[in-house]
Amino acid sequence: MRHLGDVIPLPVSVRPDPAADFPLPADVSVSAAPAATAIAGELAELLRQATGFPVPIVAGLGTVRLLLDDDEAKSPESYRLDIAADGVTLRAPTDQGLFAGLQTIRQLLPGAGAVVLPGGRVEDEPRFPYRGTMLDLARHFYQPADIRSFIDTIAQFKINHLHLHLTDDQGWRLEIEGWPRLTEVSGGEGTGIDGAGPGFLTAQQYAELVAYAATRFVTIVPEIDLPGHVNAAQVAYPELTCDGEPVQPRTDPEVGYSSLCAGKDETYAFVEDVIRVVAALTPGPYLHIGGDEALSTTAEDYRAFMTRVLPLPGKYGKRAIGWHEMAAVDLPATAIPQYWRIEPVDDGVARAAAAGHQVIMSPADRSYLDMKYDESTPLGLDWAGLVGVERSYDWDPADRLPGVGEESLLGVEAPLWSETLRSLADVEFMVFPRLLAIAEIGWTPQAARDWTSFRDRLAAFGPRLEAQGVNFHRSTEIDWTAG
Ligand code: ACM
Repeated sequence: MRHLGDVIPLPVSVRPDPAADFPLPADVSVSAAPAATAIAGELAELLRQATGFPVPIVAGLGTVRLLLDDDEAKSPESYRLDIAADGVTLRAPTDQGLFAGLQTIRQLLPGAGAVVLPGGRVEDEPRFPYRGTMLDLARHFYQPADIRSFIDTIAQFKINHLHLHLTDDQGWRLEIEGWPRLTEVSGGEGTGIDGAGPGFLTAQQYAELVAYAATRFVTIVPEIDLPGHVNAAQVAYPELTCDGEPVQPRTDPEVGYSSLCAGKDETYAFVEDVIRVVAALTPGPYLHIGGDEALSTTAEDYRAFMTRVLPLPGKYGKRAIGWHEMAAVDLPATAIPQYWRIEPVDDGVARAAAAGHQVIMSPADRSYLDMKYDESTPLGLDWAGLVGVERSYDWDPADRLPGVGEESLLGVEAPLWSETLRSLADVEFMVFPRLLAIAEIGWTPQAARDWTSFRDRLAAFGPRLEAQGVNFHRSTEIDWTAG
């Protein structure tokens, strides 16, 4: 039997009651509020898989009950789970909270053997509303089925945002109505790092992916990287350069050499069209406009470009997210800088926080999942250092940058850049188990987090990830035999 606290991320409050341990009976059933039937169906299926029992969904009171409380004072992701000798009650203010509670129940089910749920009460809510990770489809494209599988895995750890880096120098991965060459030329064969990552999402595939993610309560955050990282766009449309000359495709990992032309009207017609189309395809509240490493854009041009472009997501109903470089300009009120620096240097992010902007923390030396675990890691890069599991766990996003404390944070994100990652198996190897550390940082109160507790809980997830066919790094920091 699992212990009530054997959960990642660790819940806010866990009160075990061993007298209330609940062996699931052969007639176990599920009941749910009408608005929660989809989640009830999922829970029943999990219980069927664990027990082999039929687990019907019943109209009256089931053995396992899902209740909606409608308490607007609470985080929509909060939930309370009561496991008693006569049944299980999961209550939450929204179906999103029930989904979070369902992940906790899933983790409390044993991997094998008699199905007894540990008695007691769990009360839970997230530290931050934004807990994310990022896939870089530009350097290597991954098929929608792989992205869906990835979403399934991350959602189990209450990760609720998936940022898709859709465009970069080496490829353009989202069909944009009215600009067909972006994907015809820069999404096809020979694109990506070493030409080995071709492919793109049609508008319909993207919409389907966004809808699928929503069933896992994961919000897709699309990124169109501007004004640098645009070589692929300029190969497709040379008029997007200042001189209009043809541009050669690039498949090397260099950065900082391409820029849109800040002084040309065509630039802004293109950018507004793309932002309008992406916003229309994206129901979530955010649109990421990049803004990083525009090393061949002058400071004056960067400022002029960003000042014109930053209001555009708002014009089409979205909040702009941008890498922290964008905080060098005056931001629209709802814009969100994403801080990726290693050193606590303020490039305007603290000033933005003081003015009321929310910030996403993604310091490269802790949260970049493409950094090698150690010298022997066959994949990944090391420019931000080696990032073992403890290093990815043992930091606090609220003390990374003076002036950007707990109240200024929208949340935390662990980006994965894909220069060296050609397959879903490669992606999973770099992401797991470190994303579980980031998930706990984003969910669990800082004061309740502890590396040895996390390390010991993590051991039990080895066999679980294995059973799900998820490739993960068997870090020697973890005693996997203890799971
Ligand atoms: C970044 O790592 N260029 C955001």
